[in-house]
Amino acid sequence: MITLGIETSCDETAIAIIKDRRILSSVVSSSMHLHRRYGGVVPEIATRYHVEVINYCLKEALKESRLDLKGIDLISVTQGPGLIGALLIGISYAKALSFSLNCPVIGVNHVIAHLWANYLTDSRPPLPFIGLVISGGHTSLFEVKAPDKYRLLGQTQDDAAGEAFDKVAKILGLGYPGGPIIEKSAAQWDFSDWPVFSIPSAMDGRLLDFSFSGIKTAVLYHVRAKGGPEKLKKKQISGIARGFQEAVCDALTAKAVSACSAAGIKNLAIGGGVSANMTLRRKLAGAARLNGLKLFIPSPALCLDNGAGPAILGNSLFKKGIRSSEYMSGFADFEKRS
Ligand code: KG4
Ligand code: ZN
Repeated sequence: MITLGIETSCDETAIAIIKDRRILSSVVSSSMHLHRRYGGVVPEIATRYHVEVINYCLKEALKESRLDLKGIDLISVTQGPGLIGALLIGISYAKALSFSLNCPVIGVNHVIAHLWANYLTDSRPPLPFIGLVISGGHTSLFEVKAPDKYRLLGQTQDDAAGEAFDKVAKILGLGYPGGPIIEKSAAQWDFSDWPVFSIPSAMDGRLLDFSFSGIKTAVLYHVRAKGGPEKLKKKQISGIARGFQEAVCDALTAKAVSACSAAGIKNLAIGGGVSANMTLRRKLAGAARLNGLKLFIPSPALCLDNGAGPAILGNSLFKKGIRSSEYMSGFADFEKRS
């Protein structure tokens, strides 16, 4: 079965074509460069960008997969959560394609699509599994029993992990998006350098919930006390980036393991942009070994927003007989169905 996946929930316009579980093409066009000067995503700019590039993304995806539109059997589109204007571009595009090709369309949950990216790899998580989604908008733990059956176990009480990376990078004057820049800066620190200042742990709060705003504020006060990021040496910035990254990754790892033991489930699947972080991947792999868990993480490219995640999730839902209405709109509509 050939599935076309469309993702426009935030600042990436992404279209992928998959055949069963194999990716034939995956095109991602990001408007990140347009948001950089504002230090975060500007919804109106993201939305307009989707309108401008979505047709080109489709053309490129078809070219890469050597297919034409008549070869598509199913269209799967991110229905939410996300920026409503941005989502509506993908949804309208998917509905128009579905109407003109007379092919079924299905709206999928962006957060669950991040977890389902694991089904595009060779080692696929058996159900049930504990899913940890860590992105710019979400930090959530789920018990997943099926593509349409999942239960929220815990989530962030303030900033999402990716959002905290982005905000701390801004405080340190490093730019946007923060995750990859903090990771690079942290890698430049070594033990002979400036000491990492004492960063509070991110372990407070209820057992399976997260909180990252405390560490972010600790970084802010520390940098302010030093007279701002311009007054810090590169090594000092690396030390802060390193300490912050350690604290966030430790909390994510510990709570993912706690969720597995609380639910008595041995399979742990990760997804979302922050799971591209190598320190986190190492910590999770170590904790999984220690606790006898099987860990599943997609390749870094599939951790970030892409069209293949929605495509594979749509495909699984379709096989279960789930369909979306041609009148589907944004997330409110979606939640009614779930
Ligand atoms: O999943 P994603 O592409 O989009 C959302 O659904 O939000 O995640 C984007 C987030 C951004 O906050 C970005 O800073 C973070 O993922 N991110 C990372 C890394 N790469 C991206 N965070 C930590 N380390 C990384 N290597
Ligand atoms: Zn995402």
